[in-house]
Amino acid sequence: MSNTRTNTSTKPLFQPFTSEKLTLPNRTVMAPMTRGFSPDGVPGEDVAAYYRRRAENGVGLIVTEGTGVNHPTSVSGASIPVFYGEKSLNGWAQVVKEVHKVGGKIVPQLWHVGMTRKEGDLPNEEALPVGPSGLSLSGEKVTEPMTDDEIANMVEAYAQAAADAKRIGFDGIELHGAHGYLIDQFFWENTNQRTDRYGGDIIGRAHFAVEVIEACRREVGPDFPIIFRFSQWKMNNFNAKIAETPEELENLLQPLVEAGVDIFHCSTRRFWEPEFEGSDLNLAGWTKKVTGKPVISVGSVGLDGEFTSFAGANTTSLDGLIEKLDNEEFDLVAIGRSLLMDPKWVSKVRDGQADDLLPFNKEALKKLY
Ligand SMILES: Cc1cc2nc3c(=O)[nH]c(=O)nc-3n(C[C@H](O)[C@H](O)[C@H](O)COP(=O)(O)O)c2cc1C
Repeated sequence: MSNTRTNTSTKPLFQPFTSEKLTLPNRTVMAPMTRGFSPDGVPGEDVAAYYRRRAENGVGLIVTEGTGVNHPTSVSGASIPVFYGEKSLNGWAQVVKEVHKVGGKIVPQLWHVGMTRKEGDLPNEEALPVGPSGLSLSGEKVTEPMTDDEIANMVEAYAQAAADAKRIGFDGIELHGAHGYLIDQFFWENTNQRTDRYGGDIIGRAHFAVEVIEACRREVGPDFPIIFRFSQWKMNNFNAKIAETPEELENLLQPLVEAGVDIFHCSTRRFWEPEFEGSDLNLAGWTKKVTGKPVISVGSVGLDGEFTSFAGANTTSLDGLIEKLDNEEFDLVAIGRSLLMDPKWVSKVRDGQADDLLPFNKEALKKLY
């Protein structure tokens, strides 16, 4: 393999991050990764220890795996953690405690899967999926569009989760608005064919997200960090775009800023890819430029294959990443599979042990390392 060695100093990754509501000791973020180790939706001691190991080894900010808001169809599986009910929230409080004990910071990723849920999925087999127009990601009609009441209740489910996150000690929240799940189904015209205030042009399609963010902000007050994750790509369509131009990106994101987002988490599968023609800026770079907000970049950091190929991947040089970070194209860097595989990824990079970084092996998905 050519040029797998990192030649540039990794110091830019270890500069403190300071922003209005969140300060971090360095620029590394653990990307949210669904693991399915929470029986009946309750994260246990093993999950708390898994996150604590990352904090202990220098991760600046942990974003938890997606965790379901209080709605019967928020997740598709009995071992996906949820964010409501005494048992699950107690489990999460324990996760926070363990991470804080070793000086880490952590936010939960609040999630509703929308129409990606299949009929008969656990934990509520009888519940039908919900979404803006009742359409699956491939455009098939499955259920009726959400009613205004259903939308209002959903907004309150996110708000309740935000309030609980603050109450049990998290350092902020991340809203999952990416990858073709519920919030993103409102953004994307293929899944949102509404003609009311939640549909139509990009500003209308952003309206559900705006209501969710405003309701969360109302619950957590002005000083609690709200991170918003979004993507162009969908789980079934890697070429999808909700913004074709920088202007469309600004039209989508500006209302979210006004609603109360502090930091954007711009999900791409390969961080080095330019987002729009005529500039080297990636999605995070453009987001920073059009919103003026701090941004997290992500996608195959240190690996030579993207995560949606669901295969293994070899380690690569961090030179390109460091260069972009040093140029302030983005502020923070999320690392997914490498941190799933190796709790010491950040401390190894920090301590000059880059040669000891592990390739990603999909067998790692079966265990909480
Ligand atoms: C096993 C696994 C589970 C994931 N689950 C989530 C999730 O719950 N929420 C989310 O926003 N992204 C999820 N992702 C995407 C990651 O957050 C990240 O964006 C992606 O893995 C790219 O980063 P990487 O190339 O460093 O792995 C998941 C990725 C993996 C590998």
